[in-house]
Amino acid sequence: MAEFSLPKNSKVIPGKHYPAKPGAKNPRTFRIYRWSPDDGQNPRMDSYEVDVANCPMVLDVLLKIKNEIDPSLTLRRSCREGICGSCAMNIDGTNTLACIKGLDECGSGIINIYPLPHMPVVKDLVPDLTHFYAQYASIHPWIRTQSPPPADRERLQSPQERKQLDGLYECILCACCTTGCPSYWWNGDRYLGPAVLLQAYRWIVDSRDEDTGTRLDELEDPFRLYRCHTILNCTRTCPKGLNPAKAIAEIKKLILELRA
Ligand code: SF4
Ligand code: SF4
Ligand code: FES
Repeated sequence: MAEFSLPKNSKVIPGKHYPAKPGAKNPRTFRIYRWSPDDGQNPRMDSYEVDVANCPMVLDVLLKIKNEIDPSLTLRRSCREGICGSCAMNIDGTNTLACIKGLDECGSGIINIYPLPHMPVVKDLVPDLTHFYAQYASIHPWIRTQSPPPADRERLQSPQERKQLDGLYECILCACCTTGCPSYWWNGDRYLGPAVLLQAYRWIVDSRDEDTGTRLDELEDPFRLYRCHTILNCTRTCPKGLNPAKAIAEIKKLILELRA
């Protein structure tokens, strides 16, 4: 049964307005979701008129707001170059990474910014990813072997075997795909979702792993895997250009082959 994760009193109300500073060269308006667990208030949308003259990316705008207008705005970020995945949020209607989302890719009107959808909110733009990470841990994201390691070197792969990991190892676990997946919205308690399934496939096809059968057995479940209905939101939204829907289809194919 689906459970909505927004806090009590979750009706989003209009919030404060911060007008542009005098002399702003290129002001644009950003409406940003605000909610704090500490004050018992409803979530609200604060609007900020920001001079974006030196802000190529949405993350630049958010940091400008935090540094110069409203230090209480809470968000996650670290690498600032699409590697850590921590600045994932919903910008202008799409789940993406704030640090690689250019303002020139946004619509020309007001830009709305929300936390990743259908996740509990810690504060403002910070989602609670505890369950997502627990699901990731459940697929054992490391090489599992029975054979003893070679005495004098690593477990090697041929270039062809290594190539199997292309399009998979690049996943940064930002959760944009998973939180954009309608099946995950309704069954996220048991459905693993596209990010974790892509990661599961990454270990299934790793030539060094010796636990493929067990991995497939562990996924063969009406909820963990088969809630994917190939809606493709995941692939459309991935800011790294990956294709989780294809990885899921490949897992299903491998399970069929195993059972044939
Ligand atoms: S597949 Fe793409 S959207 Fe999904 S977690 Fe990985 S990088 Fe993020
Ligand atoms: S293809 Fe599957 S995983 Fe991707 S959005 Fe659709 S239902 Fe979710
Ligand atoms: S800050 Fe690391 S991906 Fe955006």
